Amino acid sequence: MTRLPLRFPVGEPRFLTVAEAGPADAASLLDHARQVARESDFLNAGPGERSLALEAQVAFLRRLRTNHTGFVLKGTIDGRLVAVLSVVRPSQLRLRHRADFGLTVRAAHWGQGIGRRMGETAIALAAEQGLRKLNLRVRADNRRAIQLYQALGFSREGLSPRALCVRGRFLAEVMMGLCLDQQAS
Ligand SMILES: CC(C)(COP(=O)(O)OP(=O)(O)OC[C@H]1O[C@@H](n2cnc3c(N)ncnc32)[C@H](O)[C@@H]1OP(=O)(O)O)[C@@H](O)C(=O)NCCC(=O)NCCS
Repeated sequence: MTRLPLRFPVGEPRFLTVAEAGPADAASLLDHARQVARESDFLNAGPGERSLALEAQVAFLRRLRTNHTGFVLKGTIDGRLVAVLSVVRPSQLRLRHRADFGLTVRAAHWGQGIGRRMGETAIALAAEQGLRKLNLRVRADNRRAIQLYQALGFSREGLSPRALCVRGRFLAEVMMGLCLDQQAS
């Protein structure tokens, strides 16, 4: 069983702490979303576009817990939020076996194994919670993310052309999935 919080070394003497985020983390999660939108061009929201109100974020995090529709993990170093990973499942009976997987790491901490640790923890938790499938979409030119998802066990399921339009340029997205058990279908 995966028991949170978990601690991972990420370059001496630092540790990454991975814990579940709750309503009390709403403000820092919103700030993280604003920062990563500025730092990376690979996300759906551009700089300044995320406008979820604090109350809406609190309500979302509360709903996840009460309705058992997934979880959000926070990765902190010395108490500072550096990574967020969400696993959100639909509530409909026919879709409840699957969830959407979303990961962001602050740019100053890329390439330190944080994405991998967050991903491994989320996959273990998702499987323990009975989820059968994780899905994600990633910009086709996001090599770092695709490499990480493949290393975590995700495989490519398709390509969606013109999924994004960034500064007038259409960009494709790769759809990736991970079955959380051994059955082929
Ligand atoms: C994509 C992202 C989540 C990766 O997180 P990270 O903490 O930098 O990744 P890690 O350090 O754990 O690296 C894991 C794997 O990614 C790959 N990787 C890391 N840096 C890479 C680079 N510069 N180029 C290519 N692949 C790279 C490697 O396969 C690595 O495995 P390894 O540690 O065995 O070498 C992070 O860069 C990020 O948040 N980017 C901006 C937002 C984003 O693109 N999110 C994904 C949206 S779908």
